Amino acid sequence: MFTHTLPLSQFVPTGAQEVQKLAQGTSDFISHFAKKGGPDPSDYPILNTLLQQFSAENIQKIFSDEHLNMIRNAFGEALSPETIQGWAYHKPLGYAGDFQIIEKIYNYHTSSNPHLAKWDQYFHTQKAPQAVRNRLSFFLDQLWKIKAETPSTSHILNLASGPGRDMYEALKVMGTSKLEIDCVDQDAQAINYAKGLCRDFLAHIQFTHKNVFRFIPTKTYHLIWSAGLFDYFNDNVFKRTLERFHALLKPNGKMVIGNFTVDNPSRGYMELFKWNLFHRSKKHLYRLAQECGFTENQIRIEQEPEGVNLFLVVTKI
Ligand SMILES: C[S@@+](CC[C@H](N)C(=O)[O-])C[C@H]1O[C@@H](n2cnc3c(N)ncnc32)[C@H](O)[C@@H]1O
Repeated sequence: MFTHTLPLSQFVPTGAQEVQKLAQGTSDFISHFAKKGGPDPSDYPILNTLLQQFSAENIQKIFSDEHLNMIRNAFGEALSPETIQGWAYHKPLGYAGDFQIIEKIYNYHTSSNPHLAKWDQYFHTQKAPQAVRNRLSFFLDQLWKIKAETPSTSHILNLASGPGRDMYEALKVMGTSKLEIDCVDQDAQAINYAKGLCRDFLAHIQFTHKNVFRFIPTKTYHLIWSAGLFDYFNDNVFKRTLERFHALLKPNGKMVIGNFTVDNPSRGYMELFKWNLFHRSKKHLYRLAQECGFTENQIRIEQEPEGVNLFLVVTKI
């Protein structure tokens, strides 16, 4: 059973044997939950405490790749792509944050295998998936606002549109009148899925199968929306992409960019499964926008109710 009381970040190993002991203890602790068929809600606090410590910096200080593999292996079948955490780790589509895992999050997907289902139930209680689900109402708000501000048809660009769930849920509520949405995604499967999901609205949605860096737009937009993309970019790519797409805004148009905060409590859990993001603080996002030459009155930072998914909003003047 797990007996460490120190946060892993404060653990000062006195030798290889101690680190090995810590890794073994951690792995035994995980095995304990795996053997009993996944964590029950009463186990969540202690499991959270442990997993929160697996943010990359701490891990690199203490554990070798071998240790980490031992800890991951302790999950057993709960690390197969049958669970959401296993899907995150194995990346069956070849990259982190694919449209299928995002859909599983939006839909509270749980495995049909009752033992594995408990891991999915645990996953969905994390702040990060809740923040992803909160994007839906956040996007709906953006659409309402832009529609209210635009006398004619609102033109929207959705960068990295993924499964299209945000558009589907918004258009179900608002209808498509006076809305035209252009979507770009590099994954053809994501586009096909989004087309199927949004089939009733396709007269108002156009899809382009392209890497955003190679997308050559032919018009300007009232709103450019991008969630789950910029937090995979380093600062230089972030700024270049912001500058490039900001140029496509109509006067008074807005670019809204999602980025997970540095205070994401699910970060360690995600990074244990190699779902790594460029987490950024509000200050950091603000600074990046300033470095692109935007002025104070053009920059705003918003957030969804969990405060985990931040949104940099830049207005064109
Ligand atoms: C995390 S999902 C986000 C989907 C959606 N925006 C949402 O929030 O529900 C990321 C999507 O970005 C797409 N993507 C990642 N990098 C891209 C790039 N450079 N160009 C175009 N699409 C990209 C992936 O194919 C995937 O569908």
